[in-house]
Amino acid sequence: MSVLFEPFRVGNLEIKNRFMRSATYFALADEGGFILPAYTDLMTTLAENEVGLIVTGYAYVSRDGRAPVDMNGIDSDEHIPAYRKMTRAVHERGGRIVMQIAHTGAAAYGATVSKDNYLAVSLVDKMPDFGVEAREMEDEDVVRIIEAFGRAAVRVRESGFDGVQIHGAHGYLLSQFLSPRTNRRTDRWGGSLENRARVIVEIVRAIRKQAGEDYPVMIKIGVRDYLEAEDAPVWGAVMGRKDRPEDVEDFKLRPNLTVEEGAETARVLEQEGVCFVEISNGFVGRSSYKIHMGINKPEKEAYFLPEARVVREATTGPLALVAGMRSLEIMEGVINSGVADCISLCRPLIREPGLVKRWKDGDRRPADCISCGGCFNQDESGKTYIACRQLEKKGRAV
Ligand SMILES: Cc1cc2nc3c(=O)[nH]c(=O)nc-3n(C[C@H](O)[C@H](O)[C@H](O)COP(=O)(O)O)c2cc1C
Ligand code: SF4
Repeated sequence: MSVLFEPFRVGNLEIKNRFMRSATYFALADEGGFILPAYTDLMTTLAENEVGLIVTGYAYVSRDGRAPVDMNGIDSDEHIPAYRKMTRAVHERGGRIVMQIAHTGAAAYGATVSKDNYLAVSLVDKMPDFGVEAREMEDEDVVRIIEAFGRAAVRVRESGFDGVQIHGAHGYLLSQFLSPRTNRRTDRWGGSLENRARVIVEIVRAIRKQAGEDYPVMIKIGVRDYLEAEDAPVWGAVMGRKDRPEDVEDFKLRPNLTVEEGAETARVLEQEGVCFVEISNGFVGRSSYKIHMGINKPEKEAYFLPEARVVREATTGPLALVAGMRSLEIMEGVINSGVADCISLCRPLIREPGLVKRWKDGDRRPADCISCGGCFNQDESGKTYIACRQLEKKGRAV
């Protein structure tokens, strides 16, 4: 049997195989951040189909960290009953499920922020113009958000999840702290790597203190920014003002988070008690965006493998590798080489929720997902929904 179907341990959890469903936002929450039944159905389907470890989509720990209006929340105890139904359904099918908790910081969309609660790590982020002035976080804002992560983790535990995963990637708040491009602070939260990583360290401590030292704490961490000088206009569109030439010049002068810094952060977090690290990206620009799409041959797969090697050298605990994993031979190579312990999948499971079971049953064809980027869709009313556009096209053609 393939090495991919051998169990492994994460802290005190046994995971039945090497497949993990990477956190995936599904636009399945109401205005209050309460999950809709369809969300639970999706998690249940993944558990029925042999996904060893399921991670929910990112859930906001406080309302000012919400990005899309239909993002789910874990900012109050009222959310617990619906999540309990979700975890029970997954456990009844022999699955394991953890919740990803997040704050989106400067990437909170305009619709979700209001005056005084649109928070930036540094105002020199040149905030996107949502019609609301961003405010640079005071020390007490940082402390409040650390506490919010801690309290959210208690709710995650009370909801029956097998652990909690901190979202420390993709340009959201914790990436904004880690990256020297966006963190220009001169207080204890900025400057040296130790200072830029401090907020994550404090979050881990808050979670362990509040949710218990035995509760599995994991992180998806952006170990490296992939922005280049020519990405300045992209940066402008995502996080700044591309119409201001001085912002573009400033952007070009700022350094990226390097993989060595990312690996060192992972090492420190392990020492703090993080039991599972999933390797991903920090800020991305056009070049890496392209790699994300059109993964149509083995050479394009597993594109964070070089970064994973650096993190592996720096750390001792289990690692998961996400992004561009499509064929079993590549995945087996990753596990057999010892670079990572677990294969994390997002888009392939949007297209084929039954993919892991298909592989287990002996059909070794690669994932059907062609990495076209068409998972984000809008219905006639403008509401976002996540679905495989290629499958929908096929459906229309039938
Ligand atoms: C629809 C969609 C929603 C996503 N939501 C999240 C999320 O909530 N949290 C997160 O860390 N990453 C999220 N991601 C990123 C994925 O987890 C993953 O890191 C990325 O898609 C690369 O993996 P893949 O090649 O297997 O798709 C999302 C990606 C997609 C396509
Ligand atoms: S739309 Fe379908 S094929 Fe395209 S990336 Fe999303 S899941 Fe893959």
